[in-house]
Amino acid sequence: MMQSLKEFAPWVQNRVTSFMDEYVSSLDDDAKSLKEAMRYGLLLGGKRARPLLVYATGMSLGQKPEILDYAAAAVECIHAYSLIHDDMPEMDNDKLRRGKATVHVKFGQTTSLLAGDALQTLGFQFISDPKSGFAKENIGSLIHVLAESSGYLGMCGGQAIDLESEHQCIGLEELKLLHSKKTGALIRCAVKLGAIASGADEKTLKHLDDYAKAVGLGFQVWDDVLDVIGNTEIMGKTQGSDENLDKSTYPKLLGLKNAEDFAKSCADTAIAALNEIPYDTNILAQFATFAVSRDH
Ligand code: IPE
Ligand code: IPE
Ligand code: MG
Ligand code: MG
Ligand code: MG
Repeated sequence: MMQSLKEFAPWVQNRVTSFMDEYVSSLDDDAKSLKEAMRYGLLLGGKRARPLLVYATGMSLGQKPEILDYAAAAVECIHAYSLIHDDMPEMDNDKLRRGKATVHVKFGQTTSLLAGDALQTLGFQFISDPKSGFAKENIGSLIHVLAESSGYLGMCGGQAIDLESEHQCIGLEELKLLHSKKTGALIRCAVKLGAIASGADEKTLKHLDDYAKAVGLGFQVWDDVLDVIGNTEIMGKTQGSDENLDKSTYPKLLGLKNAEDFAKSCADTAIAALNEIPYDTNILAQFATFAVSRDH
């Protein structure tokens, strides 16, 4: 396995993007503008952080990348759908994403709603595809993990709390819950999919999940920090969006410096969890640091 995140990240980006591109291209053209909006929201840009976690986890446990492709694509589809809906006027009302006009600005609100819906089900199409190569006994739990992490108990539930918390002074525990659900759930999902698809035992799953919980929280705290100190051009999304909407964020609650320190401490917690398992988890460790020091 590659030892450097600098090499591994572009390898994942190319691999999963070509894989998803090929699949979407093979769909019929009966609803051309919907397909175009799906391609736009899914394939153009993005760090592919969740696929990276699927491959890095699975490959750390000795799995072949061929057996991880469908899981990586599945979680990225759910993520892409969540971003399309997150940017719509009813939610964060953002106009810039991945350096381009958001899907609703480019294609209109109806198509952007449907593109989100169709990408969500495409995620389940991937995870349940008979060609995935997953061991039969793992398929049920892979689908269950994806469903649970995406819906009420995971991302959607977190998004609901996020929206209810605008213009509110919520406490630290509630903010942590919000972050753990809206962003943490899909990050945990990525690690779990990689681990389950690789036949991880219970103990390994538990330590990897501790890693993913900490990374997921740190990832969103850093997203909030970037909203304050980041650069619109580099991030490809509008700096200051959270302040505009009076969102509940770590910098708002704790101050910028404390929020940054807290994010870094999440990476330390994550790396400590990796030290409990006897696998080469070098890339996962590097990703934990990247999650809380990135500029985009
Ligand atoms: C942005 O996610 C939204 C959050 C959940 C913080 P990413 O930072 O992974 O966005 P892309 O996929 O790289 O554009
Ligand atoms: C996004 O949180 C979480 C999702 C589930 C999409 P944000 O609203 O902070 O993400 P950005 O900053 O718009 O990417
Ligand atoms: Mg949002
Ligand atoms: Mg947003
Ligand atoms: Mg944000």
